[in-house]
Amino acid sequence: MGITSTFTPHDVYSGHTIDPEVSDKTVRDVVFYLQTLKAPIQRDSGNPINVQGKNLFSQINCSGCHTPQLKTGFSPVSALSNKTIYPYTDMLLHDMGNDLDDGYTEGFAKTSEWRTPALWGLGLSPNSQGGQYFLMHDGRAKSIEEAIMMHGGEAKLSKDKFNLLNESEKSAIIHFLKSL
Ligand code: HEC
Repeated sequence: MGITSTFTPHDVYSGHTIDPEVSDKTVRDVVFYLQTLKAPIQRDSGNPINVQGKNLFSQINCSGCHTPQLKTGFSPVSALSNKTIYPYTDMLLHDMGNDLDDGYTEGFAKTSEWRTPALWGLGLSPNSQGGQYFLMHDGRAKSIEEAIMMHGGEAKLSKDKFNLLNESEKSAIIHFLKSL
């Protein structure tokens, strides 16, 4: 963001170390605010179509990367400590194939590697985006179906299995994803 702090003391443009532009307290307050925002909760989880969609999601191994359930470690913030959460991500990098290789990298990631995005809140995201989806790292997918069709590399097998499902099975998966 081009704002220096004691956590990131170097100015990104000049490379010079310049006076912290925000205080440690402000940075910590923003971190705490973001950490404690409530996670979206699945809606209508008992609906048979969502149950079917969730089972298929595991059967075709979408869950291999979009891990349905994780447990947090210790946190001094008790609301975050040792909690079972349902983020639908393994938080890891995966090689997603040539079509998603945009030649850009951060850190040690390869240019075709992306971190699995959490799918919690997926069905709510259009509410804050003018009724539209903007999915994948640069928002290129305008629907969940399109996002699935863009999976390549390590995720290709799972996409191929999705394509082999019949129409009602496919729509059960989409229905389930919109309930997250
Ligand atoms: C090999 C790991 C892997 C598998 C398997 C996988 N995904 Fe993903 N998924 C990813 C990654 C990584 C991204 C982000 C790619 C990007 O940002 O360009 C992603 C993005 C998505 C998105 C867009 C989310 C967003 O916020 O932009 C959806 C929806 C999604 N996956 C659904 C699925 C479904 C459904 C399946 C099963 C057919 C599946 N994924 C299988 C790794 C995987």
